[in-house]
Amino acid sequence: MKNVLFVASECTPFIKTGGLADVIGSLPQALKENEQIDVQVILPLYDEISEEWKSQMHLFKSIDVPVGWRDQEASIYKLTYNQITYYFISNDYYFTRKGIYGYYDDGERFVFFSRAVIEALNYLERKPHILHAHDWQAGMAVALAKIMQPIEDLKTVFTIHNIKYQGVMPIGTFEDFFELPAEHIGGLEWDGKLNCLKSALFHADKITTVSPSYAEEIKDPYYGEGLSPILIERADDLVGILNGIDIKEYNPLTDPALPVKYRSSKARKKENKILLQEKLGLTINSDKPLYAIITRLVEQKGLHLVQHIFEEFLQEDVQCIVLGTGDEEFESYFSDIAQRYPEKVAALLYFDEGMARQIYASADFFIMPSKFEPCGLAQLIALQYKAVPIVRETGGLKDTVQPFNEITGEGNGFSFTHYNAHDLLAVLCYSLTIYRSQELWNTLAKNVNKSQFSWKKSARDYANLYYQLTMEYA
Ligand code: GLC
Repeated sequence: MKNVLFVASECTPFIKTGGLADVIGSLPQALKENEQIDVQVILPLYDEISEEWKSQMHLFKSIDVPVGWRDQEASIYKLTYNQITYYFISNDYYFTRKGIYGYYDDGERFVFFSRAVIEALNYLERKPHILHAHDWQAGMAVALAKIMQPIEDLKTVFTIHNIKYQGVMPIGTFEDFFELPAEHIGGLEWDGKLNCLKSALFHADKITTVSPSYAEEIKDPYYGEGLSPILIERADDLVGILNGIDIKEYNPLTDPALPVKYRSSKARKKENKILLQEKLGLTINSDKPLYAIITRLVEQKGLHLVQHIFEEFLQEDVQCIVLGTGDEEFESYFSDIAQRYPEKVAALLYFDEGMARQIYASADFFIMPSKFEPCGLAQLIALQYKAVPIVRETGGLKDTVQPFNEITGEGNGFSFTHYNAHDLLAVLCYSLTIYRSQELWNTLAKNVNKSQFSWKKSARDYANLYYQLTMEYA
C-alpha cells in the first residue's frame, strides 16, 4: 500500500475558485479504484467553507507551527467524505478572512500553511510515503519536506496547474519565515526573490503538469513565466499527465440541472436550447447556432481575441451566451455588447453551476481560444454535453481537441494555431459552414460522441508514477 498525501489550497466540494479544485476533488476519487493507493488530502480551513461542511469536521489535534522565531497555533480538523480522509488546517489570523486569495500577505499565508503541513505529518494516522503538492500555495511544503525530512524517505511530487502564479516574496522574508541555515536560500530563491513555485521545482523528486503539451511548452521562455531554465534542467523528471473529469458528475443523461436530459439526441439537446433562449430573452429558434463562453473573464482565456472580432462575427446569424466573472474590462465589454444585440447575445456576469450546465447542454459550440492553457476542463465538459469546442492549439486544448477534417472525417472540434484574432474569426466562420452542412455536421457529432476524458487512464499514470518513485529509491 502506498500512502499519498495531497497538499493543496482548494478542493471541491468544500472550496473552489478554479480548475485546481476540481482536480483535487476528483483525482483522489479516481485513485481510490486502485486498492494499492490510499490518498488523504490536506487543505487550509477557510472561513468561506460552509457550515454544512464545518459541522461535519472534528478537531483532530492542536499544534504549534514554528514560523521563523515565533510559534503560531493551528488546529487540524478532520472529515471523511466519500471514503477519503480530509484534514483542514485552521488558524484565525491567516484563514479567517473573506474569500480565499487576494491578500497582500498571501505568500506568508501559504508558507504558514505549508509549514503547518510539515508539522502535521507527525500526527497523521496513516503516514504518507509520498507528499504530492499542487501549485505554488503548496510548493513550500515540498521544499520543507526535503530540507527538514520530517518522515524518513518521504518522496515528493509537485504538480504545476498554472505556472503563471508563483508566490513571490522579498528575499528578506526568508529569516522571518524559516529557521534554516542560509545555505538553503539558493533552492528557495529565484531572480533575487523568495519563490514558492521555484522552491518546489528545485526540490521535488518528480514534477508533473496537467497535459503533455504544456509540459513541453513551459520549457520555452514564451510559456515558462521566467522559470523555463529550471524546467529544462529538470526535464528528465518532468512529465505531463492529462487531467480527466468526473464523467458520472458531468453526464447530460442524469444531470439534475437540465430541464431535458439526453445522451446523444440532437432533438432533446435542442429542447434545452429553446428553453434557455426563452429564459435569456434571445430569439427563440432551435436552428440558430448557439456559441457559449463559460470562463473566468481573464486574459489567459483569450478574451482579447474574442473582443477584437466578436462584433464582426455577430453580423452572421448566430447567438452567443457568456457566463462568468472577472476583469472589469471584459465584464463591461460583454455587458455592453449584450445590450446592443439583445436577441443575439446574453452576458451573465456571475457564476452559477446549474446555469453553466444548462448552457453546456444548449450550446452547439464552445469557444475557448486561450493564450495558454495548462489543461482546461471546460472543453472536456463541453464535449460531454455535445457542444463542439473551438480552441487555440495550446497546452491541454491541443491534447484534447483534434481539428475537424472534412476529407478524412476525423476530428472532434475546431482549432487555430497563432494567437491572432482573425485566425479565430476564420475558424468561427468555418464552424458555421460545417453546422449548415447536415452531412458534415453529423460526422462531427459522431466524433464528439466518442470523445470522453475520464480519469481512468490518467489515474493509472499517477499510480505508476508513485510506484516508480517509491521503488526507484527503495
Ligand atoms: C488551472 C489551469 C487549467 C487546468 C486547471 C486544473 O486552473 O489554468 O488549465 O485545467 O488548473 O489542472
